[in-house]
Amino acid sequence: MKEFQVVLITGGAGYIGSHAVQEARNYGFEPVTYDNLSMGHRWAIQGEFVKGDLGDRPKLLKAFRKYQPAAVMHFASHTYVGESVTHPQKYYRDNLTNALNLFSVMLERKVSHFILSSTCAVYGDPVQVPIPEDHPRNPVNPYGDSKMMLEKILAWYDRAYGLRSTFLRYFNAAGADASGRLGEAHDPETHLIPLVLDSAMGRRKEITIFGQDYPTPDGTCIRDYIHVTDLAGAHFLALKLMMETGQSDFFNLGTGKGFSVREVITKAEEVTGKRIPVRMGPRRAGDPPELVAQSDKARAALGWQPRHSSLENILKTAWAWHRNYFGGKAKTSRRSTVRSRQ
Ligand code: UFG
Repeated sequence: MKEFQVVLITGGAGYIGSHAVQEARNYGFEPVTYDNLSMGHRWAIQGEFVKGDLGDRPKLLKAFRKYQPAAVMHFASHTYVGESVTHPQKYYRDNLTNALNLFSVMLERKVSHFILSSTCAVYGDPVQVPIPEDHPRNPVNPYGDSKMMLEKILAWYDRAYGLRSTFLRYFNAAGADASGRLGEAHDPETHLIPLVLDSAMGRRKEITIFGQDYPTPDGTCIRDYIHVTDLAGAHFLALKLMMETGQSDFFNLGTGKGFSVREVITKAEEVTGKRIPVRMGPRRAGDPPELVAQSDKARAALGWQPRHSSLENILKTAWAWHRNYFGGKAKTSRRSTVRSRQ
């Protein structure tokens, strides 16, 4: 019989975390979700679940004792760049102290493999695009800064305690699981693709383009959109590699190809068959003109292929999810397969 190693997945009820839970068994791992459901959704939970806060050390310890995880993937985090600028305390206090608490439980329980959800926001305004992993880290907002701090803390924990970690620096996560069971449902929603689809559905009057005077071919910002299923898969490939080599590492997760805001809207019109009303707005503070990953390292070292990440597939899967979820059927028919341990 196949042996599955347990991975504790914090934030497993959130957007990216729930896709990781969904993918775990395809890579030979058994997921256990640890989530306080402050941002995550009960309907997104699959398999074993502990409702708990990362600040609750006794509950965390109990979960570690019960499930004996071989590794931890840490998705639970505040992730709004704009909010981090207006409420930095929330980002430093929660993103740092919760992670420190988690590390202390890992050390106590001798769990020495950790995957950090990091971000391209650690690079700040890039001086080189595509952005390589050895690009200087110079975050321009507290969200990116809190993630960079965690990267630095983990490098020291590796040296001192042998806690191995891999930092996965996500570019723009987008799309939805092909089964239609999972997808993006933030509240409030600030991301381009769900807002564009809201406009296509008529839930929103129009999409506002934040700035058209950037130094890009059509004047709008360029981003590297990566399908959430590809993103999720990379976590398990990275974990396997780290378990084999016993080495910490860090990778960009992007496709290496960027699309402008206008290109995303045009493609969304094609995929949805709807006209999407557009309004021009001013630049949004803190948006670099172009964020595109150099993605060769993850491909070469992990054998990772972003197979689901064409812009068309990202939009198709996101649209299928969005229509179902926000069309009203989903919330009532959706059944979770959760086994809750309170
Ligand atoms: N945009 C609009 N109108 C909108 C929403 C977004 O024009 O209504 C534009 C933004 O200005 C940006 C692009 O669409 O140029 C993508 O914006 P998102 O909000 O979807 O994503 P971000 O690039 O801001 O954020 C992502 C991740 C963060 C990460 C950040 C790094 O979601 O976690 O990249 O800059 F930190």
